[in-house]
Amino acid sequence: MKVLVVLCALFALSEGFTRVHLQRGKKMRQLLREKGLLEDFLKHHHYDISTKYAHSFASQGVYEPLMNSFDTEYYGTIYIGTPPQGFNVAFDTGSSNLWVPSVTCQSEACQNHRMFNASKSSTYQSAGTTISIQYGMGSMAGVVGSDIVLVSSFIDTNQPLALSTSEPGLVFAYVEFDGILGLAYPDIAVEGLIPVFDNLMLKNLVKQHLFSVYLGREVFGSMLIFGGIDESYFTGPIHWIPVSYQGYWQISMDSIIVNGKVITCESGCQAIVDTGTSLLAGPAAEVINLQKVIGATLIQYGEFKVNCNDIPSLPDIIFVINGIQFPLPPSAYTEQVGQGECQSNFQATASYLWILGDVFIREYYSIFDRENNRVGLAKSV
Ligand SMILES: *[C@@H]1O[C@H](CO)[C@@H](O)[C@H](O)[C@H]1NC(C)=O
Repeated sequence: MKVLVVLCALFALSEGFTRVHLQRGKKMRQLLREKGLLEDFLKHHHYDISTKYAHSFASQGVYEPLMNSFDTEYYGTIYIGTPPQGFNVAFDTGSSNLWVPSVTCQSEACQNHRMFNASKSSTYQSAGTTISIQYGMGSMAGVVGSDIVLVSSFIDTNQPLALSTSEPGLVFAYVEFDGILGLAYPDIAVEGLIPVFDNLMLKNLVKQHLFSVYLGREVFGSMLIFGGIDESYFTGPIHWIPVSYQGYWQISMDSIIVNGKVITCESGCQAIVDTGTSLLAGPAAEVINLQKVIGATLIQYGEFKVNCNDIPSLPDIIFVINGIQFPLPPSAYTEQVGQGECQSNFQATASYLWILGDVFIREYYSIFDRENNRVGLAKSV
């Protein structure tokens, strides 16, 4: 099932999004069939893959393999409690909380997913407080506690987390992941709960205070690396960009250029690098302008189509950041969604922020450096 996801926690994005839809392109039955097959495949192969990577690269950093679902969701497996209960979580650089569904949750979104039974974990401790988190799409409400969390080969003891007792709406019902593991700054952690990566840093478990993300196009092969940078995932130099505000992984963008002309973000704008957002999103008026430039036409609800035959001749869209040009080719910002149907991967939001989501990160291996408060971008292989 293809579900567009916008996981950045809603702070600056409080106006919500102009475009919320759950599926596009493929028919439900076909999607479910694909999903069934995919799950079967994963059951047999996931363990092999994670252990292989954990051993072969242990010297550089700690590797967390990510699954790619239709290029719109990337997630990995973590374990919570004693004995461990397994969950698929979206590793989201657009938010800072960790949560999974509670076994007490009756929402469809919870019932469709794995749920944590706190009574079955001898190490779970309830904080006796409640929490609710709004995302760009979807929301959760639940209770706060702490437990042992296994992320890749880290044993993260006494990690604060939330258990959802309600997940209203349909977005979380149809995603592949059960919960979310936020990787942004503690400043945007709801209820001030210490984020997983902060806990790893505090306990000196990571070699370097950074993590990096490679998002591929295949089901397997995407990777989150804690404490390391893997040069086999990119070519050329790493361009370092200072974080402009330590909440999201927020950076200043100079301009957006097409065919040598600045078309938007003329006097600079703010952007976040967000693994939890599927597409590349931006302020509505500016995105509509961008759609015009690439000849995309409105179909419905902010969905824009492009003529598939035109794609090879479309220009690169160039994001100028910290004086460096980061081109996005038409193969990245468009997508075939059906027989002879193609869509634009730019999405309009009601926020002033640009969101450099998976569409951008697939092109640029991204390094999130907490030690120096900077983002590194390098051309993905
Ligand atoms: C949670 O675990 C407890 C203890 O094993 C068990 O009694 C209970 O039925 C479980 N709850 C659910 C909803 O599965």
